[in-house]
Amino acid sequence: MKAIATRRSVLLATATAGFTALAPWSHAKEEEDQAEVTANEDLMREHGVIRRALFVYREAARRARADPASVPLRGLLDTARLMRRFAEDYHEHALEETHIFPVVRKLKSPVSQLPEVLLTQHQRGREITDYVIRVAGGTRVGQGGGESLAATLETFVAMYGPHTAREDTVLFPAWKAALGEKNYEEMGEQFEDLERKMLGADGFEHALKQIAGIEESFGLANLSTVTAPPPPAA
Ligand SMILES: [Fe+2]
Ligand SMILES: [Fe+2]
Repeated sequence: MKAIATRRSVLLATATAGFTALAPWSHAKEEEDQAEVTANEDLMREHGVIRRALFVYREAARRARADPASVPLRGLLDTARLMRRFAEDYHEHALEETHIFPVVRKLKSPVSQLPEVLLTQHQRGREITDYVIRVAGGTRVGQGGGESLAATLETFVAMYGPHTAREDTVLFPAWKAALGEKNYEEMGEQFEDLERKMLGADGFEHALKQIAGIEESFGLANLSTVTAPPPPAA
């Protein structure tokens, strides 16, 4: 297990809420200093950043279908690059494929089959990220390209939501149970070291700030805009 540093907690609270004023959060600083982030909590909050990127992809798909010229290519490119660096190279490859899948594959239960399909989906995701980087790195999405871009982003969103949900609810708990308490705590430390090595000292917080900025540029920063309308009268 690892303690969250003061700076980390404050940055996290700021980036999460999208607020610039720290005052409302600072009273909770001492409590947060004592908080600990376990390996699975770490993995699941990484999924949170990834799902926010999926929300951006969904909006990019909607715009690509409605009017290809309206897709903010810079923001889409930033999202795809975040997926590459944070989700694929770090979360998927360095953590899941290197440390979690090998342990779960050895279990004598049906969960041992799960890494195979998860790995296939990681690989398909990388192909899609290559494609999005190519398209978003161009100067414009032509009329003919809007539908292909929309459909590809939608299939990625449709795949990756259930992918992360299955990992959160089946893969990670099975991995934790297989490791035992001591090894699990040690993995938490190792993940933290890997995060520092691959993403820098504030790797998670940086990714969180990046996705918050991208949401802002897509007009998605205000969470209340997605509150569902009341259902029809029965
Ligand atoms: Fe995964
Ligand atoms: Fe994952």
